[in-house]
Amino acid sequence: MGKNITQKIIKAHLLGGQTVPGQEIDLRIDQTLTQDATGTMAYLQFEAIGLDRVRTDLSVSYVDHNTLQMGFRNPDDHRYLRTVAQRYGVVFSPPGTGICHQLHLENFGKPGTTLIGSDSHTPTAGGIGALAMGAGGLSVALAMAGEPYSIPMPKVVKVNLTGRLQGWAAAKDVILHLLGLLTVKGGVGKVFEYAGPGVATLTVPERATITNMGAELGATTSIFPSDAQTERFMKQMGRPQDFVELVADEDAQYDEVVDIDLSALEPLVAQPHMPDQVVPVRELAGLKIDQCAIGSCTNSSYSDLKTTALILKDKRIPVETDVLVSPGSKQVVKMLAAENLIEPLLDAGARLMECTCGPCIGMGGSPVSAGVSVRTFNRNFEGRSGTQDAKIYLASAETAARLALDGQFTDPATWGERPERVELPESVPSIRDLFLFPPEDGSDVDVVRGPNIVALERFEALPDTIEADVLLKVEDNITTDHILPAGPQITALRSNIPAISEYIFSRVDEGFVPRMKEAGKGVILGGENYGQGSSREHAALGPRHLGVKAVLVKSLARIHRANLVNFGILPLLLENPDDYDLLKQGTTLTIPARDIKPGQSVDLTTDSGHMVRAINDLTEKELEIIQSGGLLNAVRDRQSR
Ligand code: F3S
Repeated sequence: MGKNITQKIIKAHLLGGQTVPGQEIDLRIDQTLTQDATGTMAYLQFEAIGLDRVRTDLSVSYVDHNTLQMGFRNPDDHRYLRTVAQRYGVVFSPPGTGICHQLHLENFGKPGTTLIGSDSHTPTAGGIGALAMGAGGLSVALAMAGEPYSIPMPKVVKVNLTGRLQGWAAAKDVILHLLGLLTVKGGVGKVFEYAGPGVATLTVPERATITNMGAELGATTSIFPSDAQTERFMKQMGRPQDFVELVADEDAQYDEVVDIDLSALEPLVAQPHMPDQVVPVRELAGLKIDQCAIGSCTNSSYSDLKTTALILKDKRIPVETDVLVSPGSKQVVKMLAAENLIEPLLDAGARLMECTCGPCIGMGGSPVSAGVSVRTFNRNFEGRSGTQDAKIYLASAETAARLALDGQFTDPATWGERPERVELPESVPSIRDLFLFPPEDGSDVDVVRGPNIVALERFEALPDTIEADVLLKVEDNITTDHILPAGPQITALRSNIPAISEYIFSRVDEGFVPRMKEAGKGVILGGENYGQGSSREHAALGPRHLGVKAVLVKSLARIHRANLVNFGILPLLLENPDDYDLLKQGTTLTIPARDIKPGQSVDLTTDSGHMVRAINDLTEKELEIIQSGGLLNAVRDRQSR
C-alpha cells in the first residue's frame, strides 16, 4: 500500500510503537529549535541531564520574543542562551536577527526531517516538507539529549488543492477558509497534508503561511510535499544541498479528505476573538480601522512585505490608522532595501519595527482602547495584543495593506488591480554570518547566569517510604493558576525555581510555602479535577522544589498528571472519595512508595491508624521515572548506564 508524506517521515524516524492512529509512537528527532521565552528552561533542563553536547543533527536557539522589555532580566536571559548554546553545541540567533520560524525556514529547515520546537508555530517548517511540531520545553531538552519524542500516531488528512489563487485571495485565505470550515478544534490528533494539482501553484513562503497557522486547527502539524517549488526555494536560499524530493505515493491512503478550490477563494478575515470566526472581508465593509500590523511568523516573508510595499507605494495611509511593519528576518530587510522598497513603506506613513515577534505578543504596538486592529498574525485572543478591549481581525498581508489605505473595511471588489504575485529572486543575500555557530568542543565555555537564572537542582530519588503531613487540603477544580498564578511579575521568574516557588498556592493559602519550608516535605490533598487548565510545568516544578512528595486527589487533570510524573511527584487517586473528608490538614500519612506496582492499589496509613486506599494508574515507565526522582534523573541514569 502506498504511503503519504507523513507516513514516510514517521517510518524513517520510528523508534517504537505501532503506527495505528491514536497509539503512542516514539520518533527520532533530527532538529530542535527554541525561542527565548521558553528556551531558558529548556536549556536548564538539558543541563540538568548532564550531557556534554547536544545529540541532535542541529539545534538552534532563537531570541525573538522578549527583546524590548526594560531591565536586566531579558539581556541576562539572552546572555545565558548565547553562552549555554556555545557550551553545548547549539546555534545561537541573537535578538533582532528575526523570528524563529521565518529564520528556520530560510536557513536551517530540511525536507524529510523531524523538528520539534518549544513554540507552537514550529509547524511552519512543514512548508518545506519537514515534519515539524510544537512541543514543551522538557520534550525539547530530552530531544537534544537524543531521547525519542512520543506522540499519538496522527490521522492524516489530505487537503486536496485544485485551481489557482485569483485576484486578492492569498495563501492566508486558504488556512482561514480551513479554520472557518473545521474550527480551532478540528485538527486535534491530525496532520494536514497538502496534495493535489493546486500545490504546485503555491511558493514555499505561501505554503509556510498555511502550515504556520495550521497550529490554530489544533493539529499535530501540517506538511507540503518537497517538490520543484521547494527545490527552487532551497537554491534561492543558497542551500541546494539540503533539498530532497518528498512526495506522496500515487496510491497513498489518507484517513480523511478535504477539498479546496483555490480559484474560488476570496479575501477572508477572522473576527475577534478566535481564529475560526471567519467571514469574507466584504461583509465588514464600513467598519473603521485604527491599526494594521503586518508581520509575525505567519506573514513576514519577503513576498509578504514586498507585496505590502507595492500596495502602499506612492500612497498615503490616513494618519488615524497606525500601520506597523515587522519584517520576519534581517534577510527580508536587506532584500527590501536592495530593491528600494523600504522608502515606499516609510513614505506611506508605516512604522518599521524590529525583526521580532513584537506586536504579536503585545511587545510594543498595542492598539488604542477598544480599537480595531487588522493583523496578519495567527492569533486574536482577547488581551493578547496588550490592549484588553481591542478587537483583533486576522487577515493576509495584501488585505491588511490594502485596508490600511482605506482606513476602514471595504469590499475587495473596489480595490482595483492587485500587484503581481511576488517571486523570490534567483539568489538572496545570506545572513548566515549573523548566527553564532558553536565551537567543536565547548567544554571551556563558561555558561553565564544572571541573578535571575538558577541552575536546576538535582532532585533526590523517591524514598522507600514517604512519611509526610498533609500540608494543604484544597477543594475540587483546582487549576494550575491556583497552584502557580500567572502575571508578568511571576513569569519573569520562570528560570529561577527557588524564587518562583515562593508563589506556589500564594492566592489560595499564604501559609502554605512557610509550612512547606518548615516541614521540608509534604502531601497535597485535593478534590476532583486537580491541576486543570494551562499546561505550565512550573506548577509541578515549584511544589517539587518545596518538597511535595505526593498529591492525593479524587481525580487529576491529564497534563498536570504528566508534569507531576516528569518532576517526580507521586500522583495518587482516592479509591473512596469519602476518605477526603476523613483526612485533614496536619494528618500524617505513611506511603509505601517503593512497593507501588502498576495497576495495584496502595494502602496509606494515617497517624491515627486509619487505612486509606489509593488507586495508582501509573505505568511501569512512569513509576520508574517517579522512583528515579523525575524524568531528568531517569534519563541521566539511563544515559550513564
Ligand atoms: Fe512570535 Fe507570534 Fe509567531 S509570538 S513565534 S510571531 S505566533
